[in-house]
Amino acid sequence: MKVLLVTGGAGFIGSNFIRYFLRRNKSFILINLDKLTYAGNLENLKEVENSPRYHFVKGDICNHELVSYIFKKYKPDYVINFAAESHVDRSLEDPSTFTQSNVLGTLTLLENARNAWNRSDRNVCRFLQISTDEVYGSLENNTDYFMENSQILPSSPYSASKAAADLMARAYHVTHGLPVIIIRCCNNYGPYQNTEKFIPKCITCLLQDRKVPVYGNGSNIREWIHVLDHSIAVIKALFYGKPGEIYNIGSGEEISNIDMVKRIVRILGKPEDLIQFTQDRPGHDRRYALNCYKARSNLNWSCRYTLDDGLKETIQWYRSNLNWWKTE
Ligand SMILES: NC(=O)c1ccc[n+]([C@@H]2O[C@H](COP(=O)([O-])OP(=O)(O)OC[C@H]3O[C@@H](n4cnc5c(N)ncnc54)[C@H](O)[C@@H]3O)[C@@H](O)[C@H]2O)c1
Repeated sequence: MKVLLVTGGAGFIGSNFIRYFLRRNKSFILINLDKLTYAGNLENLKEVENSPRYHFVKGDICNHELVSYIFKKYKPDYVINFAAESHVDRSLEDPSTFTQSNVLGTLTLLENARNAWNRSDRNVCRFLQISTDEVYGSLENNTDYFMENSQILPSSPYSASKAAADLMARAYHVTHGLPVIIIRCCNNYGPYQNTEKFIPKCITCLLQDRKVPVYGNGSNIREWIHVLDHSIAVIKALFYGKPGEIYNIGSGEEISNIDMVKRIVRILGKPEDLIQFTQDRPGHDRRYALNCYKARSNLNWSCRYTLDDGLKETIQWYRSNLNWWKTE
């Protein structure tokens, strides 16, 4: 049995990933290390909690002794670091928590992998750092795309902390030969996403006939990917990615925030006057868009969901799971 250590597995992407991964990879034991911040919810993992191949450890990735104990006890062959403070708005008010978890937490994991994996382990072991398109900063036109070697120019304390973690991960590869792979994905949507995030906020406000807040005039453009398409990319990068490489993961489905809200309004059959424009967020990036040729050709990965299908399915999930988000 191979052992996979996942961090932040009780959050949105991590929990979708774990359920998907355990269903399809029967020869793996999976350890989920999660601090259970406000964003972590073990309800997301009910489906796997009794599996003999799943172990949950409550704890902080910044806790060197705990991480070292996990490496000694479980001897992971693979690490996927999803754990992070992930909400940009919160990072404006509380940047130090973001720096702590996203930068120092990643460093703690890298350092423990370095201590645990010897030279021959490094041919088979992998450390996958889950990054974001936000590290590239903002595109000021509608025609350019970020490549993996585009400049890193983060705009928010969140994206700056993720960029710092990427650079630390890269440094561990270059300096210590640690088999690190970085993937940078666009905005995710799907079931089990915290209602503080844009799409679930729109859906759950509208389901309750409440006003939906939209920053500025809603013209900011985002690229949206279904969380399962991201999860498949994570698996492909883990097994087929090349250490030291970065892979952009995007869907090509770009849409402005206002058009996204209007689409959800239409699907739910609600009136457009529930949309309420609010003061823009400082440093709000105008557009993100990724060139994903490398992942498509080198990892043989592509998206299965269209935005239309994924959105309808996600809306249906929030409609059917009131208990999950109303108690959040
Ligand atoms: N959501 C997106 O659209 C998106 C897009 C690209 C990349 N990402 C990246 O994907 C990863 C997961 O994002 P998400 O949306 O699932 O986030 P999330 O906020 O839903 O979940 C984060 C999880 O990490 C845990 N966590 C936070 N700090 C921790 C710590 N110090 N130690 C242990 N656990 C800790 C939380 O308890 C939670 O379970 C993050 O690294 C994020 O930067 C997210």
